[in-house]
Amino acid sequence: MSFNVQPAAPARPNRCQLFGPGSRPEILPKMATSAADVINLDLEDSVSPNDKAQARKNIIDAIGDIDWGTKTLSVRINGLDTPYWYRDVVDLLENASERLDQIMIPKVGNAGDLYAVDALVSAIEAAKGRSKKIKFEIIIETAAGLANINEIAQSSPRLEAMSLGAADYAASMGMATTGIGGTQSNYYMLSDGDDRQAHYADPWHMATVAIVAACRTHGILPVDGPFGDFSDSDGFRAQALRSATLGMVGKWAIHPKQIALANEVFTPSEAQITEAREILQAMKEAEAAGQGAAVYKGRLVDLASIRQAEVIVRNAEMITDQTL
Ligand code: COA
Ligand code: MG
Repeated sequence: MSFNVQPAAPARPNRCQLFGPGSRPEILPKMATSAADVINLDLEDSVSPNDKAQARKNIIDAIGDIDWGTKTLSVRINGLDTPYWYRDVVDLLENASERLDQIMIPKVGNAGDLYAVDALVSAIEAAKGRSKKIKFEIIIETAAGLANINEIAQSSPRLEAMSLGAADYAASMGMATTGIGGTQSNYYMLSDGDDRQAHYADPWHMATVAIVAACRTHGILPVDGPFGDFSDSDGFRAQALRSATLGMVGKWAIHPKQIALANEVFTPSEAQITEAREILQAMKEAEAAGQGAAVYKGRLVDLASIRQAEVIVRNAEMITDQTL
């Protein structure tokens, strides 16, 4: 164990981040009454260039006018490679109500990107006397973002969450796919023998693990991004189960159909909670008997099992406390 204690990520539910275009104001009140923990009002890729100005206005009005309850409220600004982003930040920070919690910065490539946005946000907060400090969330969706992920993860104290953006990531990496997340039919291994079976591998695995490692090192929430085929519930669930297994805390929904699926996967189940509590109990009894290891249902549990079980129990308690 390093001398540095791993910092805790923000203790707030982030099981589902629901996206909606700022250019469709009729959708915004529906987002507020959804079961998503986080709302992402979009100024970036779901808004066409001609609609950017109107979308900014719609979003600023909606932040103040709509009752967003206890949700984390975030706006995705345009990338730093566009002519739009500075106006997104200036208009939002000068005019949006203090209900705004976060801005999401897409296509982050290095620590300087966050430094630049932080400098602008800090200046406007001071000039306008805003009392609540805006938090950041970012999308890792370029080759540079992945290559520089560790410097990015420690680039701003405002940074709370990091998502994998599968589509832009695939484009930036030159991957031969047009799918937004999920299984890619050309990415498989063949078994040996005469009757050769295809076994699909996960092309998002490496980026997912890199994001989780950077986030856990620096106390940031790792989040799985979009799954484009919103008619494929099984595909969404399989993708979400993989990212939950690897340590991510939630997933985006790009259609209301995906919200319940994400909440289901990223809320520890009764069976998982019961098993975690039983492991903790078994270890308590082992410790009382002077043992560092015990047998639970025919398998070894030891001090590391306590830490694994505590992750599940703490997560379940945090979600129950903050969503009931
Ligand atoms: N949030 C809340 N409600 C939404 C919604 C969203 N993102 N998308 C659709 N709805 C509502 C619709 O208004 C409709 O409501 P109604 O039953 O009251 O009429 C209902 O859900 C069913 O919608 P549907 O007709 O299936 O979808 P659509 O054709 O209106 O829109 C999309 C489909 C994909 C274009 C739309 O869901 C969308 O814009 N998603 C977000 C895209 C985005 O933000 N991308 C950026 C991140 S990758
Ligand atoms: Mg993107």
